[in-house]
Amino acid sequence: MTLRTSELSEFDSLASQLPPCDFTVFGGTGDLALRKILPALYQREREQHLDDATRVIGVSRTDFDDAGYRDLVSASLREHVPADDLDQAVVARLLDRVHHLTLDAEDGEHWDRLHALLKTAPRAERTVRVFYLAVAPALFGPICERLQDIDVVDEASRVVMEKPIGTDLASARRINEAVGRVFTETQIFRIDHYLGKESVQNLLVTRFANTFLEPLWNSRWVDHVQITVAETLGVGERGGYYDGSGALRDMVQNHLLQLLCLVAMEPPTYVGRETVRDEKLKVLQALKPMQPADVDRDTVRGRYGSGLVDGAAVASYADDLGRPAGQPGSSTETFVALRAEVQNWRWAGVPFYLRTGKRMDRRVSEIVVVFKEPPHAMFPHSEGAVGPNRLHIQVQPDEGMKLHMTAKEPGPGGIRLRPVSLDLSYATTFSQRSPDAYERLIMDVVRGNPTLFMRRDEVEAAWTWVEPILQRWAESPDRRPKRYPAGTSGPTAAATLLERDGRHWQESDE
Ligand code: BG6
Repeated sequence: MTLRTSELSEFDSLASQLPPCDFTVFGGTGDLALRKILPALYQREREQHLDDATRVIGVSRTDFDDAGYRDLVSASLREHVPADDLDQAVVARLLDRVHHLTLDAEDGEHWDRLHALLKTAPRAERTVRVFYLAVAPALFGPICERLQDIDVVDEASRVVMEKPIGTDLASARRINEAVGRVFTETQIFRIDHYLGKESVQNLLVTRFANTFLEPLWNSRWVDHVQITVAETLGVGERGGYYDGSGALRDMVQNHLLQLLCLVAMEPPTYVGRETVRDEKLKVLQALKPMQPADVDRDTVRGRYGSGLVDGAAVASYADDLGRPAGQPGSSTETFVALRAEVQNWRWAGVPFYLRTGKRMDRRVSEIVVVFKEPPHAMFPHSEGAVGPNRLHIQVQPDEGMKLHMTAKEPGPGGIRLRPVSLDLSYATTFSQRSPDAYERLIMDVVRGNPTLFMRRDEVEAAWTWVEPILQRWAESPDRRPKRYPAGTSGPTAAATLLERDGRHWQESDE
């Protein structure tokens, strides 16, 4: 098979020089820009991947000139780039590229300034224009319209949207339609930053660049799959957004379902711009729709109370939101556990248990594939038990993979069985720095490579599956989130969800 270069996904794109780019960030003084986007651009500057003609334009309502904004960026680099990576000469090079435009995205004034700035690109004929919308989703459509009005959208333009893309299917469609009136689908980059994580990309390589797993990767050999994204942080300063969202919208609809897709998808014919997304879409479409009775049985919602995290006392969710104790609060969940099924030939009957929560006992993102028990007890007179094999993929922290198996403990006097593990740690196997997800994703945007971004149909398919859960929760006021003390593994009902099926959550230290 011969492939055109344009069909291939540039998985190695981090390693090479980028075309000149005007990188415009709406929300340029916001948390995402300062914590993630600018530090990611700094790292690319450090690797000398940015073309000389590249400019970074922060757009915000704050009344900054270039110098004032550069001070802010410089302070945020000091805070968010690891000290060992911080080189003042590189900071100076990046700051030279940085500009600021004061603009209120909600009113029509001053957009001509953006037009004027973009038209002065040093190598205008080759310059890629990136418009990164690090702002509230309600502004996605209006900003795109203005960009069209001031005539700065051309074939080499791209728009980047952060989740949440909507709060349900209808609002996601509205956003997609509004943005789609200005940009074609190939120009739209919807970020799910989990797809930019090295260990998540490695999942594709582990599955499809090796042969040993594939014969076992199905309902014949796999008993069930667990996907956990646990955080020790609470809602922090983001209570305003979070209280209108909750864990299902904030984490499950995107990050956890994307992880599920990468575990469950069929091998694409090659790793290409659309092929991976085509296969992920098929998984989302194969998720068994939840009826109200399924939601009641197969989902658990929780909300953290006060407790101890890493030895420090922390407040409850209601207190974090600033609501006085005893006052009725929202019914927003900070924890979800659920049981999903992928209805296709490969996975029929294999449960996928997902869970995510804030203020839990540890910070970990992991996928555990639990294989079936050996079909026959071969060592009846042995000490110790034979457990199922488990492939444990640790996404963060300490990226790596462990294959849990059973071995004979050395020595005479009968057979003693012991659990052991084959252990692959990224940190010890590879000496190079593991780039932050945003570094890769930003470079892929500039390059125009959409493989690791969510396509419109994927986002909408994910909402289609999630929506009946939201609806059922909304119409069952008695099903308020169950309280769990901060610093624990969530409400006990999450454990019961698996115990009912004769299973238990696999914790990473088991
Ligand atoms: C974001 C969510 O998408 O992902 C946050 O909005 C969450 O609530 C974050 O904390 C988790 O990302 P990571 O990379 O720290 O696991």
